[in-house]
Amino acid sequence: MNKAVEQALNNQIKNEFFSAYLYLSMSAHCDRINLPGFAGWLRQQYEEERAHALRLFDFLADRGGEIALQQLDTPQAEFSSPVQLFEEVLGHERKVTGMINDLYALAVKENDYPTQVEMQWFITEQVEEEKTAGDIVAQLKLAGDNSTALLLLDRELGSRAGGTTE
Ligand code: FEO
Repeated sequence: MNKAVEQALNNQIKNEFFSAYLYLSMSAHCDRINLPGFAGWLRQQYEEERAHALRLFDFLADRGGEIALQQLDTPQAEFSSPVQLFEEVLGHERKVTGMINDLYALAVKENDYPTQVEMQWFITEQVEEEKTAGDIVAQLKLAGDNSTALLLLDRELGSRAGGTTE
């Protein structure tokens, strides 16, 4: 297959695994500060990112591409507040959207139609990812310094994350 697209897909496999790693680190942080609902929600995000990485992995393998796994950076482990943490989630998802858009543009440039179709799934997914993270940031800002509101939000996110603890 086209070497430039193959390399870009390998890079994106790494980026998705890094997203998983980052959200797992954030989950550990929320667990440490006694917000188990946020921790559960982030752990569910970790699972989703792993699924994204494996989806690209399988796509590349099915097309006869060469898989070249790359080293992951150490994810951030400390955050100053829940709102700061979720602003990082939103910023990270926006960055990932840019990466997916670049990959789509490369697939267009290289006339790689299967990769264009595959990237359409990710483009749709990114709309949802950014919206979800943005909604949580907005709700955390509304909660402000009100710890009762924060605990209610923690419970609500925890119930949405239900059933993801393995
Ligand atoms: Fe795989 Fe959250 O984008």
